[in-house]
Amino acid sequence: MKNVLEAKNVSMWFGGLQALNNVSITIKEHEIVGLIGPNGAGKTTLLNCITGFYKPLKGKVFYKGMEVTGLKPHKICKMGLTKTFQIIRAFKSLSVLDNVLIGALLRSSKMDEALSISREAIEKVGLRGKEEMTAGNLTPADQRSLELARALATKPDVLLLDEIAAGLNPVEVSGLVETLREINREGLTLIIVEHVMQAIMPIAKKIVVLHGGRKIAEGPPEEIKRNERVIEAYFGEE
Ligand SMILES: Nc1ncnc2c1ncn2[C@@H]1O[C@H](COP(=O)(O)OP(=O)(O)OP(=O)(O)O)[C@@H](O)[C@H]1O
Ligand SMILES: [Mg+2]
Repeated sequence: MKNVLEAKNVSMWFGGLQALNNVSITIKEHEIVGLIGPNGAGKTTLLNCITGFYKPLKGKVFYKGMEVTGLKPHKICKMGLTKTFQIIRAFKSLSVLDNVLIGALLRSSKMDEALSISREAIEKVGLRGKEEMTAGNLTPADQRSLELARALATKPDVLLLDEIAAGLNPVEVSGLVETLREINREGLTLIIVEHVMQAIMPIAKKIVVLHGGRKIAEGPPEEIKRNERVIEAYFGEE
């Protein structure tokens, strides 16, 4: 399979703090890759460097063979590479449909087309029937689904998910896993940042582990679970 996304030797600093240290990852088309690591490991920073929200101070990002390092997020999104936000960013006073429509309008400027893209995304994440509800009145689980629908409405080929299972109960997590399986079957490549292991271990073929801004391991889930550097990173410091 072809490589769809590559980050090469990406480094990022915030003032004197190095958040990413020479991180390289390669993602193949239609893959599901998990990105894990303790708090502050650099996961969100890496997603932001890939999707243009930050410009890495060193290193390069390639999407479908084109260099996208430092391009604006909306440009990168239009090319089919987008992310959800760890902190929910829906417009609380707008309806579910209008929130999703904002994403869809990036893809299509025709209103009827954007509406049908939106309805499809809403259906896919299980929010059908809640189109007219105000986003701020949704349950936390439904707000996560809305965040996913907004990203799907931009019609990405590669979707980066930042902790969308946070705060969900086990039943909600398995519902979400099913949705992710389904959208992956339809052709999307997924990179999933998650602390909730049940949300990624069953679906990711490959796990990448960050710790202190460095990539410390990469491999299939069964291997990662037994990896000593990974166990050390999570439990070794207490
Ligand atoms: N905008 C910023 N300004 C300054 N420091 C930042 C900024 N964003 C992240 N950092 C720092 O960079 C490091 C990596 O943060 P990042 O948010 O990428 O970690 P993470 O792996 O996503 O953690 P978490 O699991 O808590 O979400 C941390 O030390 C964090 O405090
Ligand atoms: Mg984060």
